[in-house]
Amino acid sequence: MASALATPLKSSPILDKSEWVKGQSLRQPSVSFVRCHPTSPSAFTVRASSYADELVKTAKTIASPGRGILAMDESNATCGKRLASIGLENTEANRQAYRTLLVSAPGLGEYISGAILFEETLYQSTIDGKKMVDVLVEQKIVPGIKVDKGLVPLPGSNNESWCQGLDGLSSRAAAYYQQGARFAKWRTVVSIPNGPSALAVKEAAWGLARYAAISQDSGLVPIVEPEILLDGEHGIDRTFEVAQKVWAEVFFYLAENNVMFEGILLKPSMVTPGAECKDKATPQQVADYTLKLLHRRIPPAVPGVMFLSGGQSEVEATLNLNAMNQSPNPWHISFSYARALQNTCLKTWGGRPENVKAAQDTLLVRAKANSLAQLGKYTGEGESEEAKKGMFVKGYVY
Ligand code: 13P
Repeated sequence: MASALATPLKSSPILDKSEWVKGQSLRQPSVSFVRCHPTSPSAFTVRASSYADELVKTAKTIASPGRGILAMDESNATCGKRLASIGLENTEANRQAYRTLLVSAPGLGEYISGAILFEETLYQSTIDGKKMVDVLVEQKIVPGIKVDKGLVPLPGSNNESWCQGLDGLSSRAAAYYQQGARFAKWRTVVSIPNGPSALAVKEAAWGLARYAAISQDSGLVPIVEPEILLDGEHGIDRTFEVAQKVWAEVFFYLAENNVMFEGILLKPSMVTPGAECKDKATPQQVADYTLKLLHRRIPPAVPGVMFLSGGQSEVEATLNLNAMNQSPNPWHISFSYARALQNTCLKTWGGRPENVKAAQDTLLVRAKANSLAQLGKYTGEGESEEAKKGMFVKGYVY
């Protein structure tokens, strides 16, 4: 590689900033030329290749049969809403108690391969004084970290939003790796009722691609999550159409940013009708549409597709996942649920120490059900009424 690049480097000097600004894109050398210039160490960026083997291994570990991701990375504000729903104050101690309960559920690693944490939890200890990260590793669960800084209004759009967090991401990602994180999450959203505008889709895709490249450079497997919100009255065909557009752009920019597809994971929304659509879809319909989308848009080099639950009920999310796993797929098709894994667990706990075991048991019930769904063996029998309740919230923020 180095010698193959030696000749063009001599005749292709690195462009200075002003040339980039002039936007002479057709005359620019490729990114790898810039990064590998032997006489300009300051221009050298650590390539994904220095972590390539590890990234592939991490992604494969997370995408292992019968396992999926526990998303427990609610921001402090969102975690506060969850705690308020069971009458608890949003204090660090309460967040710590709840997350201790989650990470230390006995045997959780049988069904859960990765856990996405909020920054506070990555640096936090359990109530018994063990590092949360160490408890996860003992459970054979890979620790991950939410790295985006949330959504803000996108000027010039149709009341849509964009996701912040690229500034300083490289140094944050390096620190998170040091702390034990091995994968990252960046959630941006696309709203169907608000458009989506071409601007919002492009911005979402570009942000995801920049984040993915930066994460890989720091040894973190990026989860690429353009959430197409459930909000709206549209039918399933409209969701399908928007999802095709979104994923086409996401992969276009991932490729432009030299992201290694074998070292990423995806976190899509399932293709469903809008939450306020009068026509509901069966798990078979959701599976058919969603798999059709994946076949059209997702290269088989991507190891795992870990769906979000997005406001579906716990049972609905599991049934839909199960329907997608009735025949072999080119990718590991699994879950990365927050609400659809935690809802009954949180309510069972209710903030009371004497309920910790019962709450952990309900978490394990959900984790096991989704593990079976990943293997296509979930029957839906014996589910509680609570688990069948939908959790859609209009305009939900995470
Ligand atoms: P839900 O499964 O609750 O949609 O959350 C998943 C998630 O992590 C969103 O980013």
